[in-house]
Amino acid sequence: MPAKISLLKTRLEAFDRLELLSSPTPLEKLHRLSEFTGRDIYIKRDDITPLALGGNKLRKLEYLAAAALAEGADTLVTAGAIQSNHVRQTAAVAAKLGLKCVALLENPIGTTEANYLTNGNRLLLDLFNVEVVMCDALHDPMAQLAEQAERLEAQGFRPYVVPVGGSNSLGALGYVQCALEIAEQSSANFVDFSAVVVASGSAGTHAGLAVALHHLMPDTQLIGVTVSRSAQDQRPKVEAIAREVATSLQFDELHFDNLQSDDKAPPVILWDEYFAPRYGEPNEAGMAAVKLLAEQEAMLLDPVYTGKAMAGLLDGIERGLFPDEGPILFIHTGGAPALFAYHPQV
Ligand SMILES: Cc1ncc(COP(=O)(O)O)c(C=O)c1O
Repeated sequence: MPAKISLLKTRLEAFDRLELLSSPTPLEKLHRLSEFTGRDIYIKRDDITPLALGGNKLRKLEYLAAAALAEGADTLVTAGAIQSNHVRQTAAVAAKLGLKCVALLENPIGTTEANYLTNGNRLLLDLFNVEVVMCDALHDPMAQLAEQAERLEAQGFRPYVVPVGGSNSLGALGYVQCALEIAEQSSANFVDFSAVVVASGSAGTHAGLAVALHHLMPDTQLIGVTVSRSAQDQRPKVEAIAREVATSLQFDELHFDNLQSDDKAPPVILWDEYFAPRYGEPNEAGMAAVKLLAEQEAMLLDPVYTGKAMAGLLDGIERGLFPDEGPILFIHTGGAPALFAYHPQV
């Protein structure tokens, strides 16, 4: 394993990275939840990455913002839901770097609830001086973002487009970095994880982890709990980014075990029973998971991503869906600012 770690670190060093995280995020055991469920459960605290209430996007933005600066950009342009954690973290990075930020936002659940429209992540966008552009729907986000970039160029700005969720092969490198931390922390703590569970949305987090964990910890199963679509629709998204990540890291030379040379996608396991009724709309099991983690661990999950992913983890234990009885690692990708936006529930 140490040789695999150092090889992967060397490959990652070829990419420009802004060090926005000063140190690895903690990996902790959830003692009370473990006792409650009868299974050892650990958590990777990417909810407390060190900028503007934390979350998974900071890791992706270490690479994306570095690319923006290298291109001489003065503006970050991105898109998401009104309550997007990704947009909030992109805006925070822009503020920290002295860049302008433009956000193209949609209301995916069509709610008129005041907290959803003005509180939580949306409130923070105003603090960061974001130029907000509302649209009816993000039906073709890359094209819609390109339109915004064109408009900004015509106004004399130098925009850099950050894709929805920061999910492309460059952003996903942030989760290759996270997998390196997990490998080091699990061996330092002598824990052998049977499974890792993560919310799978725009897919970059899942894809980066899938590539790197398959290399570093091939006996550990990575499970993506979908938050917006069926496994059938999500799989090609995860696989496409994972293939590009594997290619950019030259994984064919990295002895990417068990893979055919013409297929560099690592195994992608998806559980899709937990996102209903749709993206951005809470459900009972997700909210019960939010409440349980607050009660048992003072751990704040969120209604859109981590609550639903944790509902999958808990149900997976209950139904015996994990490969064995070994310890499970939950990747806490953040999102708690949305708790305020979803109160009362929309
Ligand atoms: C809190 C939280 N968890 C998980 C995700 C999903 O990550 P990804 O979009 O990389 O699949 C997001 C994405 O916005 C998020 O905000």
